[in-house]
Amino acid sequence: MPLAGVMAVQALTEYFQLSEEKKILIQGGAGGIGSIAVQIATHQGAYVAVTCAADEFDYVRDVGANEAIDFKAQRFENIIHDYDAAYDLVGGDVYRRSLKVLKPGGMIVSSLEDPDEELMQKHQVRAIYQHFEITTERLGRLAQLVDEDSIKVHVEKTFPLDAAGDAMTFLETVHPKGKVVIDVK
Ligand SMILES: NC(=O)c1ccc[n+]([C@@H]2O[C@H](COP(=O)([O-])OP(=O)(O)OC[C@H]3O[C@@H](n4cnc5c(N)ncnc54)[C@H](OP(=O)(O)O)[C@@H]3O)[C@@H](O)[C@H]2O)c1
Repeated sequence: MPLAGVMAVQALTEYFQLSEEKKILIQGGAGGIGSIAVQIATHQGAYVAVTCAADEFDYVRDVGANEAIDFKAQRFENIIHDYDAAYDLVGGDVYRRSLKVLKPGGMIVSSLEDPDEELMQKHQVRAIYQHFEITTERLGRLAQLVDEDSIKVHVEKTFPLDAAGDAMTFLETVHPKGKVVIDVK
């Protein structure tokens, strides 16, 4: 929660100004940060589209996404347009293509890519690279969202401490939804 949760809290409560009538695209919406960002954006009333693998559609809809786009089979920029916001958790070409779905004046925040002045001017949008920092205030906001049940974390599997190696192998090979827990009791 502190890392993925604070990333999502920082982006959704400090950079974007979401409300009902606003639309956000979350790239990598089934991932650790993405699935929490979906829940916060939904809590703020926004319309949320995500890109993820097709076998994660049910999962992202469960956490609140209105629309899911299969990144392996579809080009998201041919499907959605005139979005207010995009949260990029994938980077590279996905980042550059994300600017195409924004309306003029829209905003993209990326956890991976620095703003590109030329692209910003071309699409008339604002761009921010998210410099991540955990603060007491952000943790407090996150704790409040968790306490009021606005954020839930999906635990895919729990391993005992002496099987920590298996947990790492599971993470690398299965690409689980949400989180894997190592029980240190
Ligand atoms: N700026 C910072 O300080 C900061 C802080 C934390 C994290 N990060 C970065 O932020 C990124 C996201 O972190 P995370 O913890 O959420 O990672 P994660 O849990 O691995 O989530 C990434 C998600 O993106 C999906 N994905 C891969 N390629 C995609 C594509 N082309 N289109 C759409 N979705 C795609 C992955 O699906 P599969 O599992 O099916 O591949 C996965 O569900 C990482 O690259 C991380 O290094 C930056």
